Amino acid sequence: MSKNSVTITDNRNGNQVELDILDPTIGSSAIDIRKLHTKLGLFTYDPGFQATASCKSDITFIDGDKGILLYRGYPIEQLAEHSNYLETSYLLMYGHLPSKEEYHDFIGIIKKHTMVHEGIKQFFNGFQHDAHPMAIMVGVVGALSAFYHDSLDITNARHREISAHRLLSKMPTIAAYSHRRAHGLPLPYPRNDLDFIENFMYMMFSVPSREYIVDPVAVRAMRLIFILHADHEQNASTSTVRLASSSGANPFACISAGIASLWGPAHGGANEAVIHMLEEIKHPDEIPKYIERAKDKNDDYRLMGFGHRIYKNYDPRAKIIREACNDLLDAMGSNSHPLFDTARQLEKIALEDEYFLERNLYPNVDFYSGIILKALGMPLNMFTVIFAMARTAGWISQWLEMMEDKEQRIGRPRQLYTGAKVRDYVDLSKR
Ligand code: ACO
Repeated sequence: MSKNSVTITDNRNGNQVELDILDPTIGSSAIDIRKLHTKLGLFTYDPGFQATASCKSDITFIDGDKGILLYRGYPIEQLAEHSNYLETSYLLMYGHLPSKEEYHDFIGIIKKHTMVHEGIKQFFNGFQHDAHPMAIMVGVVGALSAFYHDSLDITNARHREISAHRLLSKMPTIAAYSHRRAHGLPLPYPRNDLDFIENFMYMMFSVPSREYIVDPVAVRAMRLIFILHADHEQNASTSTVRLASSSGANPFACISAGIASLWGPAHGGANEAVIHMLEEIKHPDEIPKYIERAKDKNDDYRLMGFGHRIYKNYDPRAKIIREACNDLLDAMGSNSHPLFDTARQLEKIALEDEYFLERNLYPNVDFYSGIILKALGMPLNMFTVIFAMARTAGWISQWLEMMEDKEQRIGRPRQLYTGAKVRDYVDLSKR
């Protein structure tokens, strides 16, 4: 019997199986359960994958109890302070910080792909004027596969790399267009003299009738949001990308699936939901009423932007962005908007409340990113789109890694069947 194993005994019949324990570089070990069904005829039951490692990955490490987040071994705090989004994207994709030459080449490649096929622009006119930009993102990103056939052979490493570059480059263009369509604004071409974040802001907010001036405060805050959201290991949207890709589907379709998953309010939709919640609360005096609702077992109401599946200590991203959020609100003046006053008081009250403390429900990164985006004048329905743009770096990195993983197989979870046992069909005349 190996020391690095566990033995599972089925107490109903005494049958046993020895399962290997797989050791990570850091973090929790995992039991390799692949033999479990063949040896004992048992599956594991784990709704929401709370205790299941679905893959091996070298990309991102989280210690939820200690509040640690590493991209390729580098602490998020260091990247947030010193890096930028494209350098961080390179790190996630290629596994190392780029040399000066690699960095300049990468920037050049990403700039080369920022435009979209003119045919894609026609799509935007087909959407309802009030379509949610996330709905447009799901459709248009999936549709990229109909335009870029020349890089769709997923067995070809170079094709995979080109598709990854295209996705990263075109996302801001598509995102900005999804906003401009709703406002009847012309669709500008990207400006490659600007950096990645500046160009996105230009594409969002420029108008042909006057010069666009980049706001450095906005760019700094956006840069931080992009780095902090770039990857987060096997979350719902990333797992969706991996599961969709496991069948061999093309990367544009798979990233579109990831965008759909991110849209939900329990995931990327939370930053938008935070603002809806603050608007509903209206005034700080109303906060206790909403706190009581969040605590009431008979009420489904939850405080948006609080809690996290993995971080049961403070979300390290929230710690970084909280400071940026406070600086921004201070710079704008404390009375700039009553909503920010409500946000600050809600944070304070929840952080002192037994219910939230006992359950380790701290404000998460979306609580603060929602407030920052609101303070920057970003339209509410673009909040989750911004998250999707930032997370594209993670999605494509995880997809590239998966495509090289020899153990990768089509994702096919099993189930604990609780339906009817075998029964005979009854003719309609007898029912
Ligand atoms: N407000 C009030 N109570 C909450 C909240 C909340 N936001 N979140 C969790 N709880 C309570 C639950 O009711 C439960 O209480 P109980 O033990 O008395 O039954 C306990 O805390 C544990 O909750 P779970 O749902 O088991 O926690 P889980 O890890 O499954 O959920 C989640 C995590 C989905 C993020 C949850 O905290 C939530 O819905 N938060 C609000 C939405 C949000 O901000 N999402 C963003 C996530 S971060 C991201 O995607 C980048």
